Amino acid sequence: MHATSRNIVTNQPGAHRDLARRVERALRHPLRKPIADHTRVAFEQANAWLAQGAAGAPLILDAGCGVGLSTRHLARRFPDHRVIGVDRSADRLSRDHGALPDNALLVRADLVDFWRLALAAGWQPARHYLLYPNPYPKSAHLKARWHGHAIFPVIVALGGRLELRSNWRLYVEEFAQALEQATGLKAAVEDHDPGAHYLTPFEHKYHVSGQSLWRLAVTLPHAPGLVPTEAKEEC
Ligand SMILES: C[S@@+](CC[C@H](N)C(=O)[O-])C[C@H]1O[C@@H](n2cnc3c(N)ncnc32)[C@H](O)[C@@H]1O
Repeated sequence: MHATSRNIVTNQPGAHRDLARRVERALRHPLRKPIADHTRVAFEQANAWLAQGAAGAPLILDAGCGVGLSTRHLARRFPDHRVIGVDRSADRLSRDHGALPDNALLVRADLVDFWRLALAAGWQPARHYLLYPNPYPKSAHLKARWHGHAIFPVIVALGGRLELRSNWRLYVEEFAQALEQATGLKAAVEDHDPGAHYLTPFEHKYHVSGQSLWRLAVTLPHAPGLVPTEAKEEC
């Protein structure tokens, strides 16, 4: 198979020098962006779908699921789990990649809002995947990377086994640095060889282009107290 995918080009020589400051800020100051109505509706539908399933079935979140192939794979691999894939792109979600298993759901929503609603509703995913998030490799775009974003404490607070994969090693290293700052937990950055078992289209594209892939997996406690609130900010 032929595939071409350009290597990441960045103007950063190493981890972003403002990362620790960004994480500190996210841990201290609440995210005030209002939650969009469409994501509130989408979340309520997802919450209702979860409530219909077998009581106590563990939850898997596939955050930024793209076309939802990974959501389908995970649902088949973990048949006793409920798997929710979330992506903001209606176009990607609408592509036909076969029937969805009964234990899977695809949701169109903005994760920055969806994650906050999930935490507020008490969701505690057993597994949480961030598979090939947009890298935003320019130094000026640190705030758009999940670990440089104000939503970062919420991602961590949800808890469970969090797995990040990327074709940019520095993204995973920065994420590990931010995780350690927020929780004290060290997560190893490992190379990832998917072999013939691709979990996502981006994993496939990067691998057949000869790029190295990187991953981090860490088991986190459910820790809503990590997220700053207005009350805490006033102290
Ligand atoms: C590089 S693609 C990876 C897709 C898929 N995980 C894969 O590996 O094939 C990143 C995905 O994250 C989604 N995304 C980025 N920011 C998002 C947000 N704030 N809310 C929901 N989805 C988002 C994009 O729409 C896109 O589908």
